[in-house]
Amino acid sequence: MNSNSSKIITVSSVKGGVGKTTTVLNLAGIYYQMKKKVLVIDLDLYSGGVATLLNIDNNRDIYTIVDAISNNRFTSLDDYVISYNKGIDIIAAPRDPRDANKIESKYIDRIIGIARSLYDVILLDTNHVLNEISLTALDKSTNNLFILTNDLVDIKNMRNILSILRENGMNNYYILLNNSRDTGKDYIDIYNIRNMIDGNIDYTLSRKFYIKNIDKYYLNGEILTLNKTINKIYSREINDLKLMANALITKKEVQDE
Ligand SMILES: Nc1ncnc2c1ncn2[C@@H]1O[C@H](COP(=O)(O)OP(=O)(O)O)[C@@H](O)[C@H]1O
Ligand SMILES: [Mg+2]
Repeated sequence: MNSNSSKIITVSSVKGGVGKTTTVLNLAGIYYQMKKKVLVIDLDLYSGGVATLLNIDNNRDIYTIVDAISNNRFTSLDDYVISYNKGIDIIAAPRDPRDANKIESKYIDRIIGIARSLYDVILLDTNHVLNEISLTALDKSTNNLFILTNDLVDIKNMRNILSILRENGMNNYYILLNNSRDTGKDYIDIYNIRNMIDGNIDYTLSRKFYIKNIDKYYLNGEILTLNKTINKIYSREINDLKLMANALITKKEVQDE
C-alpha cells in the first residue's frame, strides 16, 4: 500500500460525551463496508472506551507499543494491534491510566507514521482536551471532524477553537452537529448556531438516530453501522453518515469564507 494514499481522520470536540467514540466506531464500520483496511487508535488516553465498546478483553494497548519503541524492542505493528474483524484493527487506550502520562506525542507521530503504510483509513478517537496528543492528531490528519451538540457552552467553546484553528491556517475540518446524543436539547436553531460559532455546520446527525438501547449493541461488541437491524431502521441516518464518511477521506476543498 502506498502510504501517501492512507487517510487519517481525527474525531474531536470541545466537550466530553458528545458522541466522538460512537461516531469513530460508526465510521470504522462504514469504511470496512467500503472494503478499506481500517485502524482505530484510541487517543483518549485516560478514559478511552474503544476496546470496551467493542467488547475486547485486550492484553495490549498503546502503551505496550510506546514501551516497545522506547526500549528498541518494537518490530512490527501487526504484533501490537488487536483485530476486531477481518478489516478493522484497533489500538486500545492504556489499560492502566497511569501509563497515559508516559505517552509523549512524538510516539503518536511515530505510530501514525508506521500505520500509514499498513492501513487505508486511520481513525483517531480523542479526548476533548486540546493537549499535545490531540494537537498532534489534528496536525497529522487528512481531515478532522469536530462534533458539536446543541449546548450553549459547547457552542461558545467551539467558536473559540475554530478561531484558533483558522488563525493557525488549519481549514481541513468539518463540523457535525450531533442531535442524536441529547434528543431533548434543540433550543438553539441551526442558523443561530452557525452565527454563534462563526462557521458552517457541515453535517447534522438527526435526533432520530437516538438509539435508546445502544448499550445492548455495545455489550455484544457490535458496531452499529454493521448491524442489519440498525441499518434497516435508521437507513436515512446511516446514509447521512456514509456521505460524511466519503467526504472525510477526500481532501477538503477549501473555500474562502
Ligand atoms: N445515537 C446515540 N443514541 C443513544 N445514545 C448515544 C448515541 N450516541 C452516543 N450516545 C451515548 O452518549 C454517551 C457519550 O457518547 P460517546 O460516543 O462515548 O461520546 P464521547 O466519545 O464524545 O465521550 C455514551 O453513553 C453513548 O452511548
Ligand atoms: Mg470517547
